[in-house]
Amino acid sequence: MQNKLTVSALQWTGASLKVLDQRQLPEKIVYDEYTDAAGVTEAIASMRVRGAPAIGIAAAYGVALSVRQHCTQGDHWRQKVAADIELLATSRPTAVNLFWALDQMKTILATQLEHPIEAVLACAEKIHSDDLAANLKMGELGADILAGATGVLTHCNAGALATGGHGTALGVIRSAYQRQPIKVYAGETRPWLQGARLTVWELAQDGIPSTLIADSAAAWLMKSGAIDWIVVGADRIAANGDAANKIGTYSLAVLAKQHGVKLMVAAPTTTIDWSIDDGAQIEIEQRNPNELLPACYNHESSLVSAWNPVFDVTPAELISAIVTERGAVMNPAEHGVRGLKNAL
Ligand code: MRU
Repeated sequence: MQNKLTVSALQWTGASLKVLDQRQLPEKIVYDEYTDAAGVTEAIASMRVRGAPAIGIAAAYGVALSVRQHCTQGDHWRQKVAADIELLATSRPTAVNLFWALDQMKTILATQLEHPIEAVLACAEKIHSDDLAANLKMGELGADILAGATGVLTHCNAGALATGGHGTALGVIRSAYQRQPIKVYAGETRPWLQGARLTVWELAQDGIPSTLIADSAAAWLMKSGAIDWIVVGADRIAANGDAANKIGTYSLAVLAKQHGVKLMVAAPTTTIDWSIDDGAQIEIEQRNPNELLPACYNHESSLVSAWNPVFDVTPAELISAIVTERGAVMNPAEHGVRGLKNAL
């Protein structure tokens, strides 16, 4: 199935990067245009663009913009680009796709000495198109596993908006829906409401009906027997299969075990951090408490504070399947995902 979404998270114009401001969805479709790495860094940090693969793709274009800007400005351009890469790396800590993409660009800069502007842009565009291809592959593999399922719940937004297109978890759901109608539930995903503002909107663009639930309704939904699977994306997967994803995923995994519901994590191999053995080593982003606090408490002398981790780690033992473009690992707690490293 081709990705039919008419809006995309990122658009390269030839000289700039257009970023769909996801903070304004679904009310407004507004693209901001960036011509330097500092701007792209801010777009990621402020969550105009979000979702692990899309963050990596945006950062890659950010490096391409940096090379365009500095390459013709004298001898020290490589130091300036290196500083921009460092800056981009500070934008958000959890999604490993960001660091993977920056490493790809560093390798190109170190090896393609002849035409650096063209080389880094080609690399960024390949990261972008490879991600879409991976999602289409994952969609089919994940849909195979969902065969016979009648209801699924997803969390956050792991769709076209969060990737190079089609989506990871939503890609699986899109592909499954093409084969047979499946009832799709989306958790609202507090506090940023990726589910309520992005996922149900994105599915509606494709004509796929969905039902929004409050996050706190998930246990009761599972108890009702309405869902067979929870399908989510990931921001970083450790070698043993532990998976970091949007805060609340771990809660859903625990609830799923209680209710006999299965959990699928769909993510490209660019989301696997081969360097870490388990999820304990994943840095969990803490965002500004003011994203959570009612405005009346947003001052220093308030007695009310907020704790705002925006990801959690689901242990592999609670995951039924990890689906990547290189294949699916069933029951990842048995052997982790290491076998995917050298898979075709
Ligand atoms: O804070 P966000 O919106 O960037 O978090 C996004 C998620 O947690 C997604 O589930 C994950 O990045 C996978 S996106 C294909």
